[in-house]
Amino acid sequence: MEIQIFENYEELSINAARLVAAQVRLKPDSVLGLATGSTPLGMYAELVRMHEEENLDFSEVTSLNLDEYLGLGEEDDQSYVSFMREHLFSKINIDPEATYLPDGLAADPEEAAMYYEMLADMVPRDLQILGIGRNGHIGFNEPDDVFPVETHVTDLTESTIQANQRFFKSEEEVPRQAITMGMKQIMAAKKILLLASGAEKAETIADLVFGEVTSQVPASILNLHPDVVIMLDEPAARYLVEEYGFDEEEEDED
Ligand code: GLP
Repeated sequence: MEIQIFENYEELSINAARLVAAQVRLKPDSVLGLATGSTPLGMYAELVRMHEEENLDFSEVTSLNLDEYLGLGEEDDQSYVSFMREHLFSKINIDPEATYLPDGLAADPEEAAMYYEMLADMVPRDLQILGIGRNGHIGFNEPDDVFPVETHVTDLTESTIQANQRFFKSEEEVPRQAITMGMKQIMAAKKILLLASGAEKAETIADLVFGEVTSQVPASILNLHPDVVIMLDEPAARYLVEEYGFDEEEEDED
């Protein structure tokens, strides 16, 4: 894993966008795995800027999102399909027909999960963007006794419901379930870029980087992937540096 630490969220976002932009410029028909949450917002804003001011062209890009809340669709502000439209898809020239998310309103969610797994098999990601939950979840793969393999319907943990309630009017409104890609599709990406910002992620980032690979910290599976870049701002890197003595420059010399 390559770990890059930036002074603040803005620098983190700009550098994350540069990596995505390089991917798209080098391979215009890239398949991008996209994530929601507040962390990638700055990166998406910078990609929009690059599209407007630097001719970054998304016309041949395909995107697959990691997850969607069960029970929410495009009419709901808090659905991930709405999030992606608002912050990225409506502001760049990606073909809307080439943007995919699991169907949160499917009559049969299990079937929708199976369909998404098949779709993901057909369009492997060149670059997968990930955020990370405070409990180490990626997508909505919550801590559990085993790593979930395929796209599935999952129950959100209490910690995730509480963390995500800030986007809803009340805790009651936070959906209790989601459809999420499992580890197979995340790990199948050629390259993975994980972003984390803020002190509340510091502990889980240290677990991910220095802890054992365990399904209780779902992101720890990334230690088994050959090409992972982790971009952190200084608060998110605090434990790495203070508790574990991580030194970015020493790593560079290796
Ligand atoms: C949600 C998403 C994750 C995301 C996480 C962290 O639970 N399903 O993909 O990484 O939140 O969100 P934030 O970036 O807002 O901390």
